[in-house]
Formats: sequence, structure tokens, C-alpha cells
Amino acid sequence: GLDALLAAVLGYVLGSIPFGLLLAMLAGKGDVRKIGSGNIGATNVLRTGSKKLAAATLLLDLFKGWLPVFLAWQFLPGAVGFAALGAVIGHCFPVWLGFRGGKGVATTAGVCFGLGWPFGLAYAVVWLGLLYGTKISSLAGMSAAVAAPLVAMALGRWELVPVLCAIAALILVLHCANIARLKAGTEPRVGSGK
Ligand code: G3P
Repeated sequence: GLDALLAAVLGYVLGSIPFGLLLAMLAGKGDVRKIGSGNIGATNVLRTGSKKLAAATLLLDLFKGWLPVFLAWQFLPGAVGFAALGAVIGHCFPVWLGFRGGKGVATTAGVCFGLGWPFGLAYAVVWLGLLYGTKISSLAGMSAAVAAPLVAMALGRWELVPVLCAIAALILVLHCANIARLKAGTEPRVGSGK
């Protein structure tokens, strides 16, 4: 109903703010869509050479996923899943950028923290653990995305399983170029300067 629509629009509007692109432009680094993978996320912002800009992108992309879910819990508690899905879809398909946005990994981390600390913690442990272990951002992000619905199942939070499965599927599809590079052994590692 109306609650679902409101939550989805709130999520979409916040999620569609392209912080990576905006921060890199404001910092005089140009258009991140023209460097590295062409993505607007923190991993690609790091390829501008600025750790601070990448960290700020990560935190803001996280925040914009957390905020609509948090607000939905407060004001539209029946429509939390719509806020969550809206935020990730907003990040991945922002109307302001011709629907060509990011891959959803950091925004989904924020969404998971909004859904509850066990989700945020599990997502962060898988993501940061694999990132530390492999230095491959895409592999770490995809693994965290797949872990999220599994954690919901393990915790018996069945009402969250469909939305987390949908988000995981979206994140995997958006990483098809990364998956091809992983298969070819050419996916760059974080900190390699590529
Ligand atoms: O969040 C995106 C990340 O998983 C991969 O980014 O720039 O290496 O394609 P990138």
C-alpha cells in the first residue's frame, strides 16, 4: 500500500545520491566513471589515490542505506523491506545518472545495520574478513551479500529473506564484469595501485 510506496521512494531518493562521484568531483579528482572499473563506489574512488575520499565514500554510501531502513522502522514498520530494496536500487540505478550507478555493496552494509546489528555484524565480518584475506573487493562484497540472506535464515527472520535474496541477486548480476575478471585472474587487488 501507501506505506510500501513511501518507504521505497524514501529509500530510492537517499540511495540514489552518488556520493563517490560527487566527492571525487568536489575534490578535483574528475569523473570516477572514467577511471579504473568505472564504478562510483569506494573501491574505485580509492583508485584516484585518495584513501580519505574512499573512506568518506564508504561511510556515506553506508549511511544512505542505513538511514531509510532506520526511518522505516520508526515510521513505516510494515514496509522496512521496501526501504531496504529502494536504497540499494537507488544506488545501483540512480535516475540522476541515467540509471547507471554503483554495485550496491556498501549501501547494503548500511541496510544490514539498519535491519539489526546481527545482520550488520555478519555482513561486515564476511566483507572485511575476505577483503583483508584476499584484497579483492568484489569477491568480498559479493560474499557478504550472499551471506546476508543465509544469516536471516539462520536467525529465523524469514520475513527478511526475500528482500535480502533479491539484493544479493542484484549485487551478483552487477558484478558480472568483476566475475569475468576473477575467472580470468585479472581482477585487481586493493592497494595494488590498479
Ligand atoms: O562495490 C564494488 C566492488 O565490489 C567492486 O568495485 O570498482 O572493483 O568494480 P570495482
